[in-house]
Amino acid sequence: MGLIPEETIAQVLERTDIVQLISSYLPLKRAGRNYKANCPFHHEKTPSFMVNPDKQIFHCFGCGEGGNAISFVMKQEHVEFPEALRRMAQRVGIVIPEEVYEKKSGDLRQAIYKINGLASQFFHHHLMTSREATVQEVRDYLKQRGVSVEILEKFKIGFAPDEWDALLRHLQKKEIGLHLMEKAGLIIAKENQKGFYDRFRSRITFPIFDIKSQCVGFGARALQDGVAKYINSPETPVYTKGHHLYGFHLAKEAVSRQDNVVVVEGYMDFIMPFQAGVNNVVASLGTALTTEQIRLLRRYTRNVIMLFDTDAAGQSAMVRSLDLLIEEGMNVRVVTLTEDDDPDSFIRKFGVEVFEKRLTQAVNLFDYKLGSLTKRFDAKSIEGRAAISQDMLTTISKFDNAILQSEYIKRLAQTLFLAEEALLIEMKKVAVAASSEMTEAVSIPKEQPRVVERNILKLMLEDESFIPKVKEDVEVVDFRDENIRHILKEIFRLFEQGAPITPMNLINSLTERRAREIISALTVEGEMVVTEKEKMYRDCVDRLINERLKSQRQELLEKIRLAEMAGDESVLHQLKQRFNDLVKNRG
Ligand code: CTP
Ligand code: MN
Repeated sequence: MGLIPEETIAQVLERTDIVQLISSYLPLKRAGRNYKANCPFHHEKTPSFMVNPDKQIFHCFGCGEGGNAISFVMKQEHVEFPEALRRMAQRVGIVIPEEVYEKKSGDLRQAIYKINGLASQFFHHHLMTSREATVQEVRDYLKQRGVSVEILEKFKIGFAPDEWDALLRHLQKKEIGLHLMEKAGLIIAKENQKGFYDRFRSRITFPIFDIKSQCVGFGARALQDGVAKYINSPETPVYTKGHHLYGFHLAKEAVSRQDNVVVVEGYMDFIMPFQAGVNNVVASLGTALTTEQIRLLRRYTRNVIMLFDTDAAGQSAMVRSLDLLIEEGMNVRVVTLTEDDDPDSFIRKFGVEVFEKRLTQAVNLFDYKLGSLTKRFDAKSIEGRAAISQDMLTTISKFDNAILQSEYIKRLAQTLFLAEEALLIEMKKVAVAASSEMTEAVSIPKEQPRVVERNILKLMLEDESFIPKVKEDVEVVDFRDENIRHILKEIFRLFEQGAPITPMNLINSLTERRAREIISALTVEGEMVVTEKEKMYRDCVDRLINERLKSQRQELLEKIRLAEMAGDESVLHQLKQRFNDLVKNRG
């Protein structure tokens, strides 16, 4: 963590309340001495994510994730330590001295938000006020498509001038360096390396905001044919394709209030329903939903209505989204509009009431998927039925609910005239194949240290007087768990320095993530209910010592065997002597 002074870290942690902090991301419920919630880091239906206000530590007993407030922000916001600390510092009004934190991460991001903000203002201002004939035509075009001035303002929609460097010159007047403009993806280097030109020219600009209303990038639509309809910001330190949802910054209240979100594809598909008062809508921006987007939504609701274009591209993006949505534990329904319509054109043609009626008629995932598969394959042929059932079973196997699964299997069997038993057997195969492909993303319970080792560690954390005893009675190598050994070394180090040994301090100084998670687990599960801590300590320590003696005996016996084979009398004598000593000392 090097660059930020220890005392600043301590100060930020001191002023931060982990319960308040985590509550700003997800709802916490009181549960005894802890608070609990469904874990934001893995999918679950009953809460195993715990926050301990006394020790300021969180831990999830489902996936093993844990740590202090900084660890939480790092994990939740996908940022590194310095950036997490900077964000937390900002919350509690502590200024981290400029020179200490790396220019590259935090500063650059802030700078890009600011430049993007300036660019969106510039384009917006140009659209709203320019007297040029071309801009007047753009205003007419938007008006004819039914976009109100109020919406143009709300979403800072703009028009990039039909020039090579209008934005560039504007930003230069504001003393923004070319280097930063390029980092923000707003300008592009010329091929001959001599100078730069604007990326967005003569296009309607749609700034994309993150959930905190910071401008992360742009999409820009051409008005004429013959060029790419949309061009978008490239990947930048603040923008990754598929990580944001268009309009969510203004839709999130409605999404949360109605506990439901409608996901559409494009900018205009978002704008028209939103303008007509359907505010619980977001746009995925032309791709299948990604895990990042789904997790963003999941903080506000689990209920999703997918409303993608009826064309082949739209339907295939939707189908790809469905399984991911199920995997992330979302409840999904699907709406299909009339052929050749997207939400934008549908609302203009039929009005918002008809649109809202369609939303209420959303079909569940099973029916939708089965319908689309029976269109693709011939349900009369055996091969067709096998193909359909294979694809359906992949989806069904992802439901984490046995009742739903068996219900869907039953319906699938009825529809395809197949035996339920056969489908069940096939589904097991699909599930096995899927689980062998599982990567880290899926929570696999992590290997736990042995109870004896854990208990000794816990006693040390609950009562410092055990620390010198452990140091005296056992050796670090007596512990088999590598992470517990790291922790012990760290405890002894702090102890020798006379530093306080709290879970917080340990988590701050331990570099191994798994070691930190062991600490958070022990802390959050609460104090041990043992009346005789001394006795418990003796039992655990005796066990470790006995194990050590036992392995030493085995080692000696092995050496004795080798010496016997070699016929080395003097060595053999020494070894037997040592073995006798060892056996006498036992217990
Ligand atoms: N898109 C993109 N790049 C493209 C085409 C599309 O990023 N070359 C994204 C845009 O976010 C777009 C969405 O995919 O909004 C849907 O594309 P499309 O249906 O073609 O555009 P619409 O938004 O419907 O645009 P319009 O109604 O103005 O034609
Ligand atoms: Mn459209």
